[in-house]
Amino acid sequence: MALRKMVAGNWKMNGSLAALVELDGIAAQAATSSHVDVLICPPSVLIASASARRADLKIGAQDCHWAESGAHTGCVSVSQLKEAGACAVIVGHSERRSDNHETDQDVKKKAEAAISAGVMAIVCVGETEAQRDSGQAVKIVLDQIAGSLPGNATQGLLVIAYEPVWAIGTGRTPSSEDVAEMHAAIRGALIAQLGEVGNGVRILYGGSVKPTNAAELLHLPNVDGALVGGASLKAADFNPIIAAA
Ligand code: PGA
Repeated sequence: MALRKMVAGNWKMNGSLAALVELDGIAAQAATSSHVDVLICPPSVLIASASARRADLKIGAQDCHWAESGAHTGCVSVSQLKEAGACAVIVGHSERRSDNHETDQDVKKKAEAAISAGVMAIVCVGETEAQRDSGQAVKIVLDQIAGSLPGNATQGLLVIAYEPVWAIGTGRTPSSEDVAEMHAAIRGALIAQLGEVGNGVRILYGGSVKPTNAAELLHLPNVDGALVGGASLKAADFNPIIAAA
């Protein structure tokens, strides 16, 4: 089943008010590629300005807390993100799993909080280089899926992003065969855990997606879009990736 493609940009800890000018060019490409869902996830302090600047573009967040409010210094809740204009949130990015020691259980709680607020959860999974080299990649990723999948998943509000840790920001990508194998395994796990809903959950590929490799990656079986880091910061780099979808 061909699902509507999604191309999401993760600005990480990059960008500024001045950099939001890039959204104008991205919004123009999104309007041309109306068969693709285009999402930009800037740092949380820029969400309100980004959504005010481009009401025609989907804006998301890079993380959330699972609690509605409370004594969690430095954290932001889903309802706060939603009020600022976010319609989606990335959870369990490998940089948060490593920098902030987030566990599958944390990721699951964040995804559940997002979905119960009607906000799309983009749950990230992916193996390290050592895990791939030892033949463990599929097992590691399926274990992450089993542990991180929200209990309240719906097809529209859950997206999975497969991002091999060793491919993020390195310019390296897995072979097409390896991406297709992993996405097929994730699809199987989603169907096993969610039933028919699992067929409709989009599975994005992330890790060094560039204008030069986007078309090939985006047309592999079970690849329903891309999660893009570095190449999402400039419309000149991101727009060809949207166009390739
Ligand atoms: P990259 O990052 O495209 O810069 O490799 C992807 C990501 O971490 O989401």
